[in-house]
Amino acid sequence: MYPIVKKRKLADKIFLMDVKAPRVAKSCLPGQFVIVKMDEEGERIPLTICDYDKEEGTVTIVFQIVGASTQRMESLEEGGSFQDFVGPLGCASELTETPLEELKQKKIVFIAGGVGTAPVYPQVKWLHEQGVSCDVIMGSKTKELLILEEEMKQVAGNLYVTTDDGSYGFHGMGTNQLEELVKNGNTYDLCIAIGPMIMMKFVCLLTKKLEIPTIVSLNPIMVDGTGMCGACRVTVGDQVKFACVDGPEFDGHLVDFDQAMKRQQMYKTEEGRSMLKLTE
Ligand code: FES
Repeated sequence: MYPIVKKRKLADKIFLMDVKAPRVAKSCLPGQFVIVKMDEEGERIPLTICDYDKEEGTVTIVFQIVGASTQRMESLEEGGSFQDFVGPLGCASELTETPLEELKQKKIVFIAGGVGTAPVYPQVKWLHEQGVSCDVIMGSKTKELLILEEEMKQVAGNLYVTTDDGSYGFHGMGTNQLEELVKNGNTYDLCIAIGPMIMMKFVCLLTKKLEIPTIVSLNPIMVDGTGMCGACRVTVGDQVKFACVDGPEFDGHLVDFDQAMKRQQMYKTEEGRSMLKLTE
């Protein structure tokens, strides 16, 4: 069993949990994910890793209630536990394989949208620990839905906060903020965008125009995270990939977002159906 040592509500329907899983914590790298299962009847839920503490043996996960499984997960409290906590899975961020000297030369900008801030955080923190400073644009629909702002402030070189409704920070989306930064003379060698599929699509359309190579993380389209269900099948360039096995990170300029979103919509309906069953 994997005990929950901390639970915190970050925003409406968004929760953070520290889970004691020493073997997983020991080998975690930014960009990877875990699969959790509450109990025998529980579904396997893939979740990105938000942080890890190798000494404490804990892994931090962040989840948003989007359906029946995550709704059930919310009922778990500190002292409770997961039956399974498998990971780390997926390929680590390619940043971790880039020579440090090369990284230090690069001007990197992250764009995090909504709960996408959770998987962006360990990458920025990892870079900070290597002495690499980067810019971070993090946004949400409203001020109330912003998560991990304080944590991000500690590790980002420059942090730009945006809200769609203008209730806090820059009024607009991450793409508007990036355009503004570039207009003001900032140049970037690499952009890493993680958030809702539609956000990543529009970031990629913009960065293509700005000629900034862009990496996206296709976590949102995963369903079982095992390579079995096919939900995360995506076309990248002329190749068919599975986000959970071959990713989750890909060259954003090569991803067929429209196809991936269509597939996501189909599975959302399935999740919606099981949500209905739960509330009946
Ligand atoms: Fe099911 Fe990748 S999430 S195959």
